[in-house]
Amino acid sequence: MEEALDWVPGGAAGVAMIAGTVALGTYYLATRPKGRPPMFPLNEQAFLEQEGAEMIRTSRFCKDSKDGKFMRCLYEDCRTLYEAFRRGAKESNNGTCLGWREKNKPYQWLHYNEALLRAKNFGCGLVHLGLQPGSHVGIYSQNCPEWVLVEQGLYSYSMVIIALYDTLGADACAFIINQAEMNTVVCDDDAKINLLLDKAPSCLRRLVHIKDLRRETVARARKQGIELIRFEEVERLGSAHSHSYRERPPTPDDICTVCYTSGTTGNPKGVMLSHENVIACVSAVLLQLGEHRPNRSDVMISFLPLAHMLERCCQVAMYMQGGSVGFFRGDIRELMDDMKVLKPTLTPAVPRLLNRIHDKVMGTVNGSTLKRMLLRMAMNSKFGELQKGVVRKNTIWDTLIFKKVQESMGGRIRLLVVGSAPLSGTVLTFVRCALGCVVVEGYGQTECVAPCTLTIQGDCVPEHVGPPLACSSVKLVDVPDMEYFASAGQGEVCVKGVNIFKGYFKDPERTKSVMDSEGWLHTGDIGMWLPNGTLKIIDRKKHIFKLSQGEYIAPEKIENIYIQSQFVSQVYVYGESLKSCVVAIIVPDVEAVKQWAGENDIPGTLSVLCADDRVKALILSDVTRLGKEAGLKSFEQVKDIYLHPDPFSVQNGLLTPTMKTKRPQLKAYFKPQLDDMYSRLN
Ligand SMILES: *[C@@H]1O[C@H](CO)[C@@H](O)[C@H](O)[C@H]1NC(C)=O
Ligand SMILES: *[C@@H]1O[C@H](CO)[C@@H](O)[C@H](O)[C@H]1NC(C)=O
Ligand SMILES: *[C@@H]1O[C@H](CO)[C@@H](O)[C@H](O)[C@H]1NC(C)=O
Ligand SMILES: *[C@@H]1O[C@H](CO)[C@@H](O)[C@H](O)[C@H]1NC(C)=O
Repeated sequence: MEEALDWVPGGAAGVAMIAGTVALGTYYLATRPKGRPPMFPLNEQAFLEQEGAEMIRTSRFCKDSKDGKFMRCLYEDCRTLYEAFRRGAKESNNGTCLGWREKNKPYQWLHYNEALLRAKNFGCGLVHLGLQPGSHVGIYSQNCPEWVLVEQGLYSYSMVIIALYDTLGADACAFIINQAEMNTVVCDDDAKINLLLDKAPSCLRRLVHIKDLRRETVARARKQGIELIRFEEVERLGSAHSHSYRERPPTPDDICTVCYTSGTTGNPKGVMLSHENVIACVSAVLLQLGEHRPNRSDVMISFLPLAHMLERCCQVAMYMQGGSVGFFRGDIRELMDDMKVLKPTLTPAVPRLLNRIHDKVMGTVNGSTLKRMLLRMAMNSKFGELQKGVVRKNTIWDTLIFKKVQESMGGRIRLLVVGSAPLSGTVLTFVRCALGCVVVEGYGQTECVAPCTLTIQGDCVPEHVGPPLACSSVKLVDVPDMEYFASAGQGEVCVKGVNIFKGYFKDPERTKSVMDSEGWLHTGDIGMWLPNGTLKIIDRKKHIFKLSQGEYIAPEKIENIYIQSQFVSQVYVYGESLKSCVVAIIVPDVEAVKQWAGENDIPGTLSVLCADDRVKALILSDVTRLGKEAGLKSFEQVKDIYLHPDPFSVQNGLLTPTMKTKRPQLKAYFKPQLDDMYSRLN
């Protein structure tokens, strides 16, 4: 990515090039291919199921079908993740399935039938070791072929896979192993084995390792009475006893995974998902992708954590269609190199990655007026094509400007699926133009598998998350506290359908707090219907949001700590998911600030003091100290503050009659100050 656009020449050469470009551009205009129409009218992307306050919206695919029921599967012979893999084997005729590479070598591949056999052997080996249908088995590993072999092996005997991952930490991992009563966890390397040994709960009896272990680790496990066994040894056991244990494929209703998610507070929650949940979600996405859906000639790069459902669903889609999945080597710094070798045709992506691509390109043109102008012309031309439904990467602008970005990703990307956090419209449009591929953005959460809405190809207007998928309906419900009303097309997003989870594992209380008696999942996100039936996410009900790097922030928790400072009278902590840090508006305590100012010979009214850098430094350091003492993580600490002399009040509309802060109003009121702080933090 670094050198994208670096070579765009300046000076006379550049002017000559622009002249040539314009001429060529005109030629291309004449030969431009015709765009494809979107799969349904862009001004009516969903059905309104029920007029009135509720405004339930449903996919057009759903209503078009005979009985108006939700979609459960795309193929009748593919209703479980077990069947999905077998469909891929048939569809691809034993094509390439799982790819990996060592050092700087090319990719090596396991074919579908080999993968199926090894997976079954692994599952059979675990059964021989005493596991049974329904057993929970953990996996704590980087993405790799073995991850998928373990997963499919477990499904062969109706077992349940539970992923652990680094950001949980040792305590949460131990909590999960204990809650899910897992006696076996598969780990890739020595470090992860040791992390689990640190806090091993008594139910943990066996660790399967993919890579070699240090001698100390082996001794340590032995001392703790935990059996260590190599991955290949489990396969060998399974292969030797394959005739003793018949496969026990799961039914659609069986749980396939318990997906633990960590929030800002409390223990991780185990989201129970059935095979049908996952198949319905993936099928609905494939249906909505239409002719752009993956097929057996597609290759996907796997680098987002398999512990999260976005990546899992993308892989399920590939296996269902008989495509190939190539794994990165595990180091995100080498991802682009892996992509150049693998040449994937599709990839899931998170906003962070796309932001980086955007910023890098912008950074390289930033210094030169000419380069900026060329980029603007290129963007205008490509966006014009997008609006006509033309998606391609063979225009003159691709050759001149975007080739390097495209080639840094292998040059063959045709479909990019974005999810997991909001993506800014500028970046989305940039990516669509620069990569010349189909880019769809989804919205959802683990409790509804992955996406429950997805943009449709052909709609190039950014900053919404598309219409509901065919597996579920979406409605908005009133949140009077925050002044969002469904009658005005705004409210908490609620989802109901075949993709809704089976509850939190061993936690009926928390399940009840998000799922109502009619089966609607209350997501906690505030959405807004656009007139054309697409959903736009505008706020968070509990005021919890993710920063751009994916960390959760609960601003009220931070405010409750900062308010303890003697210098702080009122505080409003603000951040947004497009940013990587939080900032605050603080109304200082008049007495305390005046006293400190007097002692330090700083004259002036509170307004004057608020503008004084010394006062600001004092308050910023005091709240940061308090935050540190209270155990705030560094991303939870404000990076800048703005001091405001006038209190938030009911009269000025910034407090509710019950003296709670009105967050949307505060955000609007202080927009200039917030924007200013962020622009300086960039
Ligand atoms: C699948 O393909 C691989 C690679 O060509 C081959 O080694 C293997 O024998 C094939 N398996 C079956 C069952 O055809
Ligand atoms: C897969 O899809 C791509 C893009 O739509 C298409 O060019 C290709 O021919 C398809 N391959 C197969 C085997 O259907
Ligand atoms: C280049 O980027 C820097 C940092 O983002 C910014 O301050 C500056 O204004 C930019 N320059 C131009 C010419 O856009
Ligand atoms: C959908 O509606 C929004 C709001 O009216 C509008 O901004 C957008 O352009 C529309 N999208 C399409 C594709 O018509």
